[in-house]
Amino acid sequence: MINPKDSYYRKAKHDNYPARSVYKLEEIDRRYRLVKNGMRVVDFGCVPGSWSKYLLKRIGNGTIVGIDVADPPAIRDGRFTYMKEDILSIDTKRLKERIGTVDLILSDACPSTSGNRFSDGQASLEIVRRVFSLAPSILKPGGSVVAKVLTGEDTAEFVRKIRPGFESVRQSKPKASRKESREMYIIALHQRREF
Ligand SMILES: C[S@@+](CC[C@H](N)C(=O)[O-])C[C@H]1O[C@@H](n2cnc3c(N)ncnc32)[C@H](O)[C@@H]1O
Repeated sequence: MINPKDSYYRKAKHDNYPARSVYKLEEIDRRYRLVKNGMRVVDFGCVPGSWSKYLLKRIGNGTIVGIDVADPPAIRDGRFTYMKEDILSIDTKRLKERIGTVDLILSDACPSTSGNRFSDGQASLEIVRRVFSLAPSILKPGGSVVAKVLTGEDTAEFVRKIRPGFESVRQSKPKASRKESREMYIIALHQRREF
């Protein structure tokens, strides 16, 4: 639940972002020098639009494709296009035909949680698996992936599996992520060509 006393919530209001989650991406971007001028980015789970709004300030003449199951975010910018799709069911070939290849894949997508630690972790990992399974098709060689996961029993094994496909794979819990949350971001930098 959003706590209006939360300093990131107040900062997001002040900075005109629809969600406090923007400061998670900002921290990851600063630390890993992720976003560059001219990039083409896909933002999975983009609604209500803070990450895409932040990206628009950072990509210059680059472009963003936002994808979510929800109605589109209130973003009016010729560099932003929106697709209402479920990551879990979107066909890879059709996605590639529509968006081509990208420099950066982001996913802040989170399934609605039930409170059951195991099943919430599995549902989150299912999305993350799908996001990473798209990388060989839509990510340019050298491109990177950042994806949120609710950590669980299988997270470490998944991270171990994707490691060979990238030059570097890190895990980060940004300051804006609530202490009580199990969320963590997998930051997979520079996809290897042979992946
Ligand atoms: C925490 S919000 C993302 C916030 C966003 N990064 C921002 O800064 O505004 C998570 C989003 O993931 C979306 N989502 C969850 N499961 C999804 C799925 N299977 N396919 C596409 N979007 C999904 C939800 O609809 C929700 O809008």
